[in-house]
Amino acid sequence: MQLMLLGLPGAGKGTQAERITADYGVPHISTGDMFRKAIAAGTELGNEVKAYLDSGRLVPDELTIRVVRDRLEQSDAKDGFLLDGFPRTLPQAEALDATLGSMERPLSAVLYIHVPQDVLLARLTGRRICKSCGSTYHVVFQPPAAEGVCDKCGGELYQRSDDTEEAVATRLEQYAHTAPLVGYYQQRGILHQVDGTRSIDDVYAEIRQILSPLRR
Ligand code: AP5
Ligand code: MG
Ligand code: ZN
Repeated sequence: MQLMLLGLPGAGKGTQAERITADYGVPHISTGDMFRKAIAAGTELGNEVKAYLDSGRLVPDELTIRVVRDRLEQSDAKDGFLLDGFPRTLPQAEALDATLGSMERPLSAVLYIHVPQDVLLARLTGRRICKSCGSTYHVVFQPPAAEGVCDKCGGELYQRSDDTEEAVATRLEQYAHTAPLVGYYQQRGILHQVDGTRSIDDVYAEIRQILSPLRR
């Protein structure tokens, strides 16, 4: 399966991706996670993208497309993948079509996790992430058993540098570039809207229902 998650910042893309990859075995390809890793490792890519991520602006298309193309060429993506946070602009969507066309692996489904904007600030400012394994938590909605410690690996939890009110406001503005993708994939008949306001378990149950007829 070639899957893609679409939705506003804080809609629950990364949270649902953790479950989908665990159950369906498709690699999770998150451009945001790849950029954050590059920043943490101090690579050339990390230096190029840091200011964009910190402020909440989109990284330029050309650079982002290159990173995803390289990632899709790796062997684990040959039998399917789960894209999270890419594409985010029409030029990125068109570039993805060209790449997937040449791989003969068109997108099977786009899961559009829909939530109203008013729930997002609380979700983002309360989010915590494991430094070691990348698992996502929330201080209220998905708390770890021991404060500040990852349930899965015992790693230390941290807060993303763009989960401040200011950067969140910029990220929500930037979503205007992404919103047209809903119509783009709807026209193709592969867009599935998921109600993202429900509990994490209920959202995942809906996703499983959508994916069950697609599973090979
Ligand atoms: P990215 O990392 O993709 O961030 P984003 O799109 O802003 O999305 P988030 O990761 O914030 O939200 P999410 O939907 O994954 O929510 P989560 O599951 O964590 O991108 C970051 C930056 O990288 C961009 O700003 C840009 O600079 C750059 N970038 C990345 N891709 C790019 C691209 N293609 N082009 C250009 N630039 C790019 O959930 C959030 C919180 O809510 C968690 O704490 C979670 O526990 C909680 N939660 C989740 N679901 C529920 C629920 N159902 N009920 C209650 N709480 C919930
Ligand atoms: Mg995410
Ligand atoms: Zn961990």
